[in-house]
Parts: sequence; structure tokens; C-alpha cells
Amino acid sequence: MNIHLTRRRFLRTVSAGAAGLGLANGVTSRALPASPIGEKPAILGGRPVRTEPFPAWPVIQENDEKGWMEVLHSKDWCRAGDGHFTTQFEEAWARTLGAKYCVVASCGTTALYTSLNAVGVGPGDEVILPPYTFVATLNVILMQYALPVFVDTDRESLQIDAHKIEAKLTSRTRCIMPVHLGGNPVNMDVVLEVAKRHKLPVVEDACQAHTGEWRHRRVSTLGDLGCFSFQASKNLNSGEGGAILTSDPAHHEFCKSFQDQGRGQAGAAFGYARQGSNLRMTEFQAALLLQQLTRVEEQSRGREQNAQYLTSLLREIPGISPARMYEGTTRNGYHLYMLRYDKARFAELPRARFLEALEKEGIPCAGGYSPLNKERFLKETLNSRIYRKMYSERELAEWEERNACPENDKLCEEAVWFFQTMLLGPRRDMDDIAEAIRKIQKHAGELVSQS
Ligand SMILES: Cc1ncc(COP(=O)(O)O)c(C=O)c1O
Repeated sequence: MNIHLTRRRFLRTVSAGAAGLGLANGVTSRALPASPIGEKPAILGGRPVRTEPFPAWPVIQENDEKGWMEVLHSKDWCRAGDGHFTTQFEEAWARTLGAKYCVVASCGTTALYTSLNAVGVGPGDEVILPPYTFVATLNVILMQYALPVFVDTDRESLQIDAHKIEAKLTSRTRCIMPVHLGGNPVNMDVVLEVAKRHKLPVVEDACQAHTGEWRHRRVSTLGDLGCFSFQASKNLNSGEGGAILTSDPAHHEFCKSFQDQGRGQAGAAFGYARQGSNLRMTEFQAALLLQQLTRVEEQSRGREQNAQYLTSLLREIPGISPARMYEGTTRNGYHLYMLRYDKARFAELPRARFLEALEKEGIPCAGGYSPLNKERFLKETLNSRIYRKMYSERELAEWEERNACPENDKLCEEAVWFFQTMLLGPRRDMDDIAEAIRKIQKHAGELVSQS
């Protein structure tokens, strides 16, 4: 499933009724009375449970426009030297999260890429990652010509099964990269304990977890480095953008220099300290982020309340299992609301048909990722001339054997996602989601026979 395409389609859908400045969400009055559960499902020609759009994204207010125009008129659009808005945002984001340093980057992918360079991942190294994540987590490992080593998923939480990490370590393992998928924190007690025991750095992919917390500490600040994305669909966004958090001065110095063509000598325009690249964030992005940041906390609290209520409703529906949160989770960042769908409790209605029926009831949804460890492009990359030059046939054959993630394969057949914007509206929106699922369950047999 191409999540970006899905999100684009979703954002178009929810934005349809709410274009323009100052409209914090797309809530309009209900166009039709809710369809009772006993009525025919919308996919079979009945009335949908819901016709009004969910809240639109992004939220645009006057302060965003002001921030943007300030950069425009300053004529300093590029981060030159220390930058103005970029530096301000780095300080604000580091302070918000409780990290010593933040370095902004052009996107989440380049933030991860910079971090892997900071911990010295290169050809011949192995990096631990989950198979249930966005492709960028994998791509940055391949950009370093390292071997991605997948650790199976805990289907209950939809996160990496931290208890299975240690068994996948070898003398070549260079780094552990947990991903707090959908904003739901990974079991960091176990990750950090394993990392400490084996003296391995941890790079947290917190690209979807802007307000996630583990034991009251913000995710991204638990490992050696942590990365965020500010891409358009994210809970804090500037269209594109990224950030690296660290409390290690050496990592900070490296990242700051690396994202700016390796510049490093203070005051010298062309003083190069190392090899680097242009991965800089623009002043426009940073100015917008500073304004959007003023709303993050309130929006997050709203999502958390709605998600909690939605979970209480969905737990009562047989065959629907909302994602588990580990005991150490003090806050879920809710970029996604994730659950597992058991078709056995829905008269064997295939998940694809369930999702279609849900969409027709007016509830946007997606089936989530397909198994990343089985991607054809990954096999082709590992079989490429460059990889075959760097890794022996035996190493690559062994990689293939270690690559199986059976739990994740199952999860990819049963996951269902709702998007963060759906949690931004009133509580009754949650009732609609639950009602639509109950309605489909009630008519599942009919849906199966008429497929
Ligand atoms: C888990 C994860 N990692 C990395 C990224 C990459 O971020 P970006 O799209 O900003 O490059 C994303 C973005 O969707 C993501 O969801």
C-alpha cells in the first residue's frame, strides 16, 4: 500500500468542505441523519452512517500566514550560517522535547540519513529495524550500503518486538533503529537494555511520534539520536521538513556540519570539517513550524481523549483489536489510530471489502503497510553489482534466511488504520466510526454473499 497516495487521497477527501484560512476543521452540520445500524450498508445502496467530512489538514491560521510573510519579506529564505527561524525552531523543539540539541533538516529521511552517518553506519554493517514501517527507514540503511536486519513485529502493538532484537545481533551489527510507528512508543526499556549490553547506538525513528512519551520522557530523546518528519501528513508539519534530536555534543556538531556540506569552522564560509551534503531546511519551513508548534499540544490532547474513547467503544466489538500500548507508554502521539481486524468475527468478510464498506459509510481508512522485508526492490538492491562487490554470496544467502518475519506477514493482512485528523473533531465522530464498524459486522454475511 502506498501510504503517501492514500494520505493524499484522504487529505483531499477531508479537505473538500473546508478550504480557506481560519477554518480549523472541516466540521459542518450533518447533511443527513445517521443511518441506523439495521439499515442496508452503504456499499449495498443504503444510507451511510456519516456524510460530513472529518477535520481537514493542515490547520491554517493567521499566525501561519504572518510567519510565512515575515520570511518572504526578509529575503533571507535560505539558512545561511546559523539561520534565523531555523535556529529559533531548533531551540524551541529541543526545549519542548527535553533534549539538549536539535538540528533541522530538509525532511525525515535526510534526518535519519544524517543520524546513521553520525553513528558511522557504512558498508559491511548491519542495522536493526522493524519490517512494519515506512520505506524511508529502510532506504537510509541502503543509502549507506549497509544490510537491513528485520526484527519481527509484535502484532498486538504493531511495533518491533523488542524481545526479539537480541537474537538478531551479530558482530556486524552497528546500530538499532526502533520506529515508534503511528506515534505508539516501542518498548524502549528492552531496546535500551539490549543496546547498552551490546554497546550499540540507538537511532529512534520518531518521524510519526511528535508527542509520544515513554515513562514521561519524549520519544527521540531516549536513544543516542532521534528523528522527526514534518512532511505534510504529520502532526507537526511544514509540507516537508525533518529534525534530529540529541543530547550528545559530538553528535550535535556532526549533524549540524553534515547537513550543511560538511562546513565546520566557525566564521569561515568555506571551512569544511568533513564530507557532507546539502540537507538544509529553509527559513520558510522553520517559520511555519514555529507557528504550527503553538497548536501541537492542544491538538495532541484532543486526539488522545478521542482515541481513548474510541478504544473503549472498539474493545466491545468482537474481532476488532485496537493497538496495545506498552506499560511504559505515558503518551501516544497518535499519528495513526491502528487496530487489527479479525475477519473470522465478520463472517469471513475479506479485509479489503471491509475497508471498502467502511469508506462507503463515510469513514476514511487504510490497510497499512505491506511487508517491507519482502519488497522486490530490496532483493534487487541486495543482488546489485555494488552489494555483490561488498558482501559475499554466503553473507547474502544468510541474510535471506534471517529475513523471515511471520508475525509481520500476518499483521499486514489484518491491520486497519484511521488517520490523525479523524481524532481532531468532536467526540461524536468516534461514535460514528464505531457505529459504522458495528453496522458492517451486523451485515457481514450479506456483504460476503453479495461480493
Ligand atoms: C516512520 C517514518 N520514517 C521516516 C519517514 C520519512 O520522513 P520524510 O517523508 O519527511 O522524509 C516517514 C515519513 O512518512 C515515516 O513515516
